[in-house]
Amino acid sequence: MSMNINRRVLVVERPRYIVPTANCFQLDNSAVPAISDGQLRLRTLWLSLDVMLYARVKRISSDAEPVALGDVMVGPTVGRVEESNNPAYKVGELLSGFWGWQDYGVSDGSRVRKLDFCSGHPSQALSAYGASAFGAYVALHELAPPKSGESVVVGTATGGLGQIAGQIAKLKGCRVVGIAGGAEKCRIAVDLLGFDACVDHRSSDFAGKLRTACSQGIDVFVDTIGGKALDAVMPLLNRNARIAACGLMDTPRIGEPVYSGKYQYSMSLLNELINRRLQLRGLVVFDHIRQYAAAFHRDMQAWLAAGSVKPLEEVVNGLENAPEAFQGLFEGRNLGKLLIKVAD
Ligand SMILES: NC(=O)c1ccc[n+]([C@@H]2O[C@H](COP(=O)([O-])OP(=O)(O)OC[C@H]3O[C@@H](n4cnc5c(N)ncnc54)[C@H](OP(=O)(O)O)[C@@H]3O)[C@@H](O)[C@H]2O)c1
Repeated sequence: MSMNINRRVLVVERPRYIVPTANCFQLDNSAVPAISDGQLRLRTLWLSLDVMLYARVKRISSDAEPVALGDVMVGPTVGRVEESNNPAYKVGELLSGFWGWQDYGVSDGSRVRKLDFCSGHPSQALSAYGASAFGAYVALHELAPPKSGESVVVGTATGGLGQIAGQIAKLKGCRVVGIAGGAEKCRIAVDLLGFDACVDHRSSDFAGKLRTACSQGIDVFVDTIGGKALDAVMPLLNRNARIAACGLMDTPRIGEPVYSGKYQYSMSLLNELINRRLQLRGLVVFDHIRQYAAAFHRDMQAWLAAGSVKPLEEVVNGLENAPEAFQGLFEGRNLGKLLIKVAD
C-alpha cells in the first residue's frame, strides 16, 4: 500500500434487513490528510468492532446519529501519532479515540486518550478497557450486582461484553454459567475464561440443558441475547433475581416475524416480574461513564496485572476486512472481542 493513500471504509447503504451486511460499506482511497496548527495526524493501528456500532449504520435509537451515506464509518480506534502540531502530543505516542475505519485520523487533541497504561498491549484499550468490557462492569456493579455465592448467567459468554462479565462475576465469588453459540465457544468459556459451565444455545434442548446447569436457579442474568435465551432463563429465575438487559442478539433472521420471542414485549414478562419480585434494568454504557469510568479503569488494571481477568481477542488483519468481520458479529463468527489490526 502506498504511504500517500488514506484507505477509508465508507457507509454507502443502510441495512436492508436486520443484520448490517458487508455490502453497506465500500473501501475508498483518498489523500493522507494534512494537519494544521494544533492538530495531530494518527496512523491507525487497531479498530474495535462492536455490536453497538450498528446504531451508526442504521437508526435504531435516538441516542446515536447514523453516519451519513458516503462518510467514513466511525468506531473506537487506537493509533500512533505520526505528525504533531500540538505540544501536548509527541510523535510516536499511542492514543485511543474514535476517528473510525481509516488508515489515518486527524485530531485537535480532544476526544483522544494517551495509552501509557497499556502501551505494551495497545489492543487492550479496546478489549479489556473498551466499551463492551465497561458495559460488563456496569452491569455487575450497578444494574444487577450479584452477591458472593449467587448464581449468575451470562449471555454471549465469549464475546466482548460476556467474557468480561463472566470473569468479573467469578471474582465476586459467584457460580457462573455462560450461554454461547457452539461447543467450541462453550469449551473456551469454561477452560480459558473460568466459567463453571456453559450451554450452547444452538444445541437441541437448550432450555433443558440450561436448567440442568443452573440447578440452584438464577439470581442474576446478564442478558445480551433476549429471545430464546430470555425464554429459557425466565422459568429459572429465583425470587428477587435481577436482569441487566444489555442487548438483543437474538434478532430475527430474514423471513422470520419481528419479535417472535415469547417474552419480548409481552404481558407475561411483566407478570413474572411482579410474581417473583424481579428487577430489570437496561444498559446504555455512556450513562455511566461519569460514575464508573475511574473505578473500572483502576479495577481492570489490577485484575490484568494479577492475571485474574484474561481478555480474549479475535484479531482480523486488514482494514479492508472490517465490513465482513462486522457482519460476522451478528452471525456469531467471532470468538473473543473482535478487533481489526490495521497496521503494526
Ligand atoms: N447497551 C450497551 O450500552 C451495550 C454496550 C456494549 C455491548 N452491549 C451488548 O452486548 C452484546 C455483545 O456485544 P459485543 O459488542 O460485546 O459483541 P460480541 O459478544 O463480541 O459479539 C456478538 C455475539 O452475539 C452472538 N450472536 C449473534 N447472533 C446471535 C443470535 N441470533 N442469537 C444469540 N446470539 C447471537 C454471537 O455469539 P455466540 O456465537 O456465542 O452466540 C456473537 O459472537 C450485544 O447484545 C450488545 O448490544 C450493549
